[in-house]
Amino acid sequence: MKYVIGIDLGTSGVKTLLVSHGGEIISSAQVSYTPDFYSGGRVEQKPAAWWENTFKALKDLMEKNPEAKGNVTATAVSGQMHSSVFLDSNNEVIRPAILWNDTRTTAQTKEIVEAAGGVKSLLDMTCNLALEGFTLPKILWLRENEPENYARVNKVIMPKDYINFMLTGNIKTDESDAAGTLLFDVKNCRWSGELCGKTGVSPRILPEVIPSAGVVGEIKAEFCDELGFEKGCLAIAGGADNSCAAIGNGVVKEGQGVISIGTSGTVIGYVGEIKSEVTGGVHLFNYSAPNSRYAMGCMLCAGEALNWTKRTFFENTSFDELNVLAEKAPAGSGGLVFLPYLFGERSPHNDPDAKGAFVGIFGGCEKGNIIRSVMEGVGYAVRDLYEEVVKFTDLNEIFITGGGAKSKLWGQICSDILNKPLEVLNISEGPSYGAALIALVGSGAAESFEAANGGNVEVVREITPSENTEVYKKFYPVFRQLYKSNKENFKLIKEALK
Ligand code: XUL
Repeated sequence: MKYVIGIDLGTSGVKTLLVSHGGEIISSAQVSYTPDFYSGGRVEQKPAAWWENTFKALKDLMEKNPEAKGNVTATAVSGQMHSSVFLDSNNEVIRPAILWNDTRTTAQTKEIVEAAGGVKSLLDMTCNLALEGFTLPKILWLRENEPENYARVNKVIMPKDYINFMLTGNIKTDESDAAGTLLFDVKNCRWSGELCGKTGVSPRILPEVIPSAGVVGEIKAEFCDELGFEKGCLAIAGGADNSCAAIGNGVVKEGQGVISIGTSGTVIGYVGEIKSEVTGGVHLFNYSAPNSRYAMGCMLCAGEALNWTKRTFFENTSFDELNVLAEKAPAGSGGLVFLPYLFGERSPHNDPDAKGAFVGIFGGCEKGNIIRSVMEGVGYAVRDLYEEVVKFTDLNEIFITGGGAKSKLWGQICSDILNKPLEVLNISEGPSYGAALIALVGSGAAESFEAANGGNVEVVREITPSENTEVYKKFYPVFRQLYKSNKENFKLIKEALK
């Protein structure tokens, strides 16, 4: 049997996944690490640590699966987005990478908007707002704060590109990761010469862009030998983690989308061409499937809202018991409404000062009301993201994944709030499986993204809206209004804390 390997290079660990040419998941290996957190919202990591841990996770995987020796024909990497690796003219790393969740760049995001000639003009050029996490603000930060390092920059690449560089010696990025830099013209799928000009960033430091399923190169012979890959094993580019996750979750054509309730949450919809007005309510990035894009709403606190609730109020209660308690509470939680903005919010508010809240606590409020209201608050926020995504595409098949989807009740609440059927799939490997599928397509082992999973991905549960939809029709506008009414109050809290 022949195999490919999908590599998921995340923020807190790397996972490798062995997949057969028939699309079947065989085995996985994982290595954990932690980025370096500093004051002032700084988060960094040494690319060498990514490489060492990736190599270890590849080695572990191959040792666990002796039958794969000599039979791995391609790899592809799914990578954390936006994080910037600065290379000098010898392709040496200049300084630790600045990560996607680093927030030191607020001043630079403002400079970018000004240089672009306003938000509308920036949206016209890139389809995205200037967020602290994106790559361009980091480039400008380096220019302003470490000019000696900036002067040495020959290329800026993303984490997964660094792994591909180490594997092959070639420097390339793919369309989905290029889109997350804020220097990419998402509509026309090329670097934005215009924004480079306006921000004074030389296009020379940007890598060549290929499709996610494009070939970066052959993996060096020494690594093929050491790892036990087939000689000439191909490194296929792979893509941004959200793009790979959506591919892994079966989003391969117009009309399909996926909701993920992990620590954070996303709603992603496949978008062929961008036809609607771009307002910045969601991210619009190039996709890993050919000639396409995706709209992505990103909420910063989804599953983590329930984790926080458990930690804070119900430490000795299991998640199963939390579900039982929540099931006993009525839809609408008796009027208790939860805002899940524990870490501020990205889509659709783009408000770092937003806060979480329980509104509507009443005398007879029981534990179940509190737990259910948290699930419902996340569900309303999912609806907010969904409403932004469907401005760009009609969604008629929506998958739901992530830890939150394991709770039947939470999935049902989301379906009721959206008033849409949702499908639960038999896989939970999202990004690493998506990367493996990209490796299959890119190396020619599969003829298309639609065919790549070989029928191994199936719908195991269909959730259809229940009569509770009627209750949520009344409460969703209340949820919307509660954020609006409290927006200024959240700013007052911020001021008072100073
Ligand atoms: C997407 C984003 C995160 C990172 C996490 O815009 O910032 O999802 O990709 O890895």
